[in-house]
Amino acid sequence: EKGGWDSFMDKEIHEDPAAVRNTLLGRFSAQGDIVLDEVRIEPEVFRAVDKIIVVACGTASYAGMVAKYAIEHWVRIPVEVELAHEFRYRDPILTPRTLVVAISQSGETMDTLMALRHAREQGSHVLAICNTQGSSIPRESDAVLYTHAGPEVAVASTKAFVSQIVAAYLLGLYLAQVKSTLYADEIHEVVEQLKAMPDKIQWVLDNVSSTVEAAAKRLVNSRSFLFLGRHVGYPVAMEGALKLKEVAYTFTEGFAAGELKHGPIALVEEGEPVVVIVPSARGRDVLHNKVVSGIEEVKARGAFTVAVAEEGDPDAERYADVVFWRPQCPTLLSPLVDVVSLQLLALDMARLKGYDVDKPRNLAKSVTVE
Ligand code: M6R
Repeated sequence: EKGGWDSFMDKEIHEDPAAVRNTLLGRFSAQGDIVLDEVRIEPEVFRAVDKIIVVACGTASYAGMVAKYAIEHWVRIPVEVELAHEFRYRDPILTPRTLVVAISQSGETMDTLMALRHAREQGSHVLAICNTQGSSIPRESDAVLYTHAGPEVAVASTKAFVSQIVAAYLLGLYLAQVKSTLYADEIHEVVEQLKAMPDKIQWVLDNVSSTVEAAAKRLVNSRSFLFLGRHVGYPVAMEGALKLKEVAYTFTEGFAAGELKHGPIALVEEGEPVVVIVPSARGRDVLHNKVVSGIEEVKARGAFTVAVAEEGDPDAERYADVVFWRPQCPTLLSPLVDVVSLQLLALDMARLKGYDVDKPRNLAKSVTVE
């Protein structure tokens, strides 16, 4: 079943490119317009949507956080991302014009199911982004957009995450199309960029794996790790931190790079590994420079720095002890490649420690209790 891989997690990370490719498949017209026939919500309902609330847990919630940056940018409506278990207990503001998007790999997460039930009771429309056909969450939603990542067996979610981002992006582009907040040409351009992503992910698998493995060997005995990022790099940092916790049992914290001086920098001491997601130096100079200065600050305090940065970024090379390169890609799509190195890092660390990477202690693949 593992098809030659020694764990499902390893196999499933290597299926990241296919998960993205298959989730894109059949969702465009010949002209490049987004076609979501399977989504049974009328275009008029979508046109009227004035707020999106993503409800999800764990990794799926980080996919939602990534999507927030893209959807707000493309559709110009507010997107909130809420942990499903927090959602219904705070009496959220829900109207028929609110679209609640429930993201779940398994489709059986009880917290997410309860959140969507609450949203429907309040008269909002619920769209599920789900990887498991016929599971409870899509069955109880008004509409479903399936991710086509294929069955995910390892407890740590990997290929489902990249496919959730792609599905949420398709939803965002579809909304931009029906609400005319982007020109058709702009949508087509993003579609082309999305179609190029599987090869870029493959590039990371082919070219970065050995650097990651060497870093894992160097850092395997570290007791804690910090992960930081900004903009879409922030949820990627959160996801990298979660992966390492789950399978390598390493104490990690992921946070927004801008928070460093508001507290977490106090944790940095000699040899502390700090993983930094560095935005491209092209276009978004301000953020790039700010994140690079974050690397300098932790380095000055003795941190061992690992940068995830765009190929050829001279600052990453100058300030980081190790660099996991990403091929050039638009900022909004960079999480699809950046997370891959972090998935590999968690896998390698767990393997070096001799842990069962597919079935980490205390965890279940789907959490069917509240
Ligand atoms: O099946 P779901 O996507 O609803 O699961 C949500 C979380 O339980 C899940 O992502 C969990 O955080 C994973 N173990 C992460 O690797």
